[in-house]
Amino acid sequence: MKVTVVGAGNVGATCADVLAKREIANEIVLLDIKDGFAEGKALDIWETSPINMYDSRTTGSTNDYSKTKDSDVVVITSGIPRKPGMSRDDLIATNAGIVKSVTENVVKHSPDAKIICVSNPLDVMTYCTYLTAKIDSSRVFGMAGVLDTARYRSFLAMELDVSPKDIQAVLMGGHGDTMVPLPRYTTVGGIPVTELIAEDKLNDIIERTKFGGGEIVKLLGTSAWYAPGAAAAQMVEAIVRDQKRIFPVCAWLQGEYNMKDIYLGVPVVLGKNGIEKILELDLNPEEKAMLEESASAVKNVMKVLDDMDVVS
Ligand code: NAI
Ligand code: 2OP
Repeated sequence: MKVTVVGAGNVGATCADVLAKREIANEIVLLDIKDGFAEGKALDIWETSPINMYDSRTTGSTNDYSKTKDSDVVVITSGIPRKPGMSRDDLIATNAGIVKSVTENVVKHSPDAKIICVSNPLDVMTYCTYLTAKIDSSRVFGMAGVLDTARYRSFLAMELDVSPKDIQAVLMGGHGDTMVPLPRYTTVGGIPVTELIAEDKLNDIIERTKFGGGEIVKLLGTSAWYAPGAAAAQMVEAIVRDQKRIFPVCAWLQGEYNMKDIYLGVPVVLGKNGIEKILELDLNPEEKAMLEESASAVKNVMKVLDDMDVVS
């Protein structure tokens, strides 16, 4: 299996490192526009192989897409991250141009690849990837929900003093402050979370999750990379190992949840064909209203992209 990660910055290099360390693909190509940057990161990762005891091979490329030829999966992390005071949406003008040109090169050299977009603003950059790639939407999707649920689960594990492994959760909507965590679908070792935690504590955790990205930006002066890189690698693993994992993924909706022509986070089955199924939960009126609010926020930013006329 061959996986390309475009963008050898914080998230891309971390993703490649996880892919290599866990032998998720035997060939990993890291590509960046900065001269020598991807080669340097790839070499450093490869030099961990005798220590971490794996043989997946990571190589780097400075903008030479011929090296990415026939990749099975491509992860797009190229673009600028946000700085303190910036929202994810502030990145749109710069990142749309980058994501468009990257996607054109990706589909030219790997026409059959599944493409996972990570660049922000996530839902709209995934839309930009889809418009540019002109391939079936089952093969173009975005990573956000795996990260956002990981944050939610890790906060719950701390609060309950239990293993994060035992916390199952689903979170829907856009990758932003309007994301929709769903306590009704959160369990701890099979027990509904609401039986184990006071309502006000759970609400605090939900609020912290919604602003989880911002919390890291405030601490580091740039956005997160360990959890985002690992989250993208977990999606790659589900595809290359045909695991049929159920993850919240930013997917193109065509009538599901009564929504059309929008990229939004929903639970899906992820396997060798990419998105193999979108799961439709029976949301209650309150949950539906939150999802609609989130969708309307995403639609507004999609419109900004449409009006910019970057993608024809
Ligand atoms: P970074 O600045 O560390 O890395 C970005 C890399 O992209 C840089 O090395 C840059 O040279 C490269 N790049 C820029 N234009 C390029 C092009 N045309 N072709 C190839 N490479 C190009 O940024 P970081 O922290 O890795 O974040 C990357 C993106 O991922 C940002 O947009 C960030 O907001 C987003 N992100 C999304 C998350 C999610 O949950 N979806 C989570 C964390 C970050
Ligand atoms: C995050 O949630 C900034 O989207 C990035 O960490």
